[in-house]
Amino acid sequence: MSNRAQFVTKMGVIAATVGSAVGLGNIWRFPYEAGLHGGGAFLIVYLLCVFLLGIPVMIAEFVIGRSTHSNALTALKKLKPDSHISAVSYVGIVASLMILSFYSVVAGWIMEYLYQALMGGLSGHTAEEYATLFSSFTVNGWRTVMWTLLFLLINFMVLRRGVEKGIERLSNVLMPVLFVILVVFCINSLMMPRAAEGLNFLFNPDFTALTPKVVLGALGQAFFSLSLGLTCLLTYASYFSDRTPLVRSATVVALLDTLVAILSGIIIFPAVFSFGMEPAAGPKLVFQILPEIFQQLPGGYLWSVAFFLLLFFASLTSTISMSEISITYFVEAHKMSRNRATGLNTAIAAAFGTLCALSFGVLSDLKVAGLTLFELFDYVSSNVLLPLGGVMLSVFVGWIVDKKVVEEQLTDYGARRITLLRPIRFCIRYVAPVSISLIFLYGLGVL
Ligand code: PHE
Repeated sequence: MSNRAQFVTKMGVIAATVGSAVGLGNIWRFPYEAGLHGGGAFLIVYLLCVFLLGIPVMIAEFVIGRSTHSNALTALKKLKPDSHISAVSYVGIVASLMILSFYSVVAGWIMEYLYQALMGGLSGHTAEEYATLFSSFTVNGWRTVMWTLLFLLINFMVLRRGVEKGIERLSNVLMPVLFVILVVFCINSLMMPRAAEGLNFLFNPDFTALTPKVVLGALGQAFFSLSLGLTCLLTYASYFSDRTPLVRSATVVALLDTLVAILSGIIIFPAVFSFGMEPAAGPKLVFQILPEIFQQLPGGYLWSVAFFLLLFFASLTSTISMSEISITYFVEAHKMSRNRATGLNTAIAAAFGTLCALSFGVLSDLKVAGLTLFELFDYVSSNVLLPLGGVMLSVFVGWIVDKKVVEEQLTDYGARRITLLRPIRFCIRYVAPVSISLIFLYGLGVL
């Protein structure tokens, strides 16, 4: 994106940023992480992470992006020419490619389920059959690899033809529809026989379940879901206009993103208990539960098709945003043409995505530190690289960037009085870097 276009309307800013944030992180990863880590206690820590650490880091990314109107590497250099902070852009590039690799595998599963839904394959089965549907599909190497590559191809074509804006505009229309569908599913789940147990699991914290690992998991999930710590939102903010309300936009994006995650939890957990399943099933959780939910709903065929189709678009707006990081880097730092850069981004993700896809089948015994390749990519990007990037970005804005620049950004060039100016700066300077570092070191067992 060499022409520095701007998001003209207020809606455009929020919608594109929400487009990046809302995706599989909310609907697939949130329930699976909450299910693994004890439900309610995880949710509380997650909420604290979003509001006390996520929003400040998001504001920090916005400050850097909008004050320079440039991509990450250039922006950081512009603000502090001789600092080593540009290292954070390398964290972002590596993290974005790792996430793109395993994310495409899950997006591929979504496409398979969309295909199954269209063909009527998601109805008329028994509970056991639904449970084995997923495992029999994912052990089938060539099929999951094919869907992963197909998804990456679509992502490539959108980026190469420069129709991201078109997709984003389309998703502006589709996301509210997805939201309505989620609300309908919620109501349906709330009427299930053992709904109370599911809600109890999600909302009633059992603090004995809290370990440093759980806290790190919640932090990683918050960063993953908000697309934070890898300079993705920094890049988006470089397109913001000077009048975009920074603080308010960050708050709205975080609230909407969190709302979608919680809705997803309210859909999944009552169903998990009502169908007698295990909340700690891991990545396969929602794929086992959803077909059962559709089966129950009147007009299940249409609901399932609509749901997977919309989720596909939600995933695409997220992968577009993460691909932009490495593409811009290849173009600007290595003087590649945009086409080649897009091709390289896709080729890297295709290679690693294939390995991740196969780690549910033929490569399932290949483990590093007890994790399959898919799990390793998921864990290292969310729980290591994103928090690391978050610390660097908040320290940069809190301590290195000129205080006047930060204040100018927070007040939208003096246009607004921000009542929480001091607490926000305090969070960026102290709360975020210190807590993220501590959670990180405890969670990894270093402290
Ligand atoms: N936030 C996206 C989601 O929840 C995933 C994502 C992570 C997108 C990092 C961009 C960067 O699905």
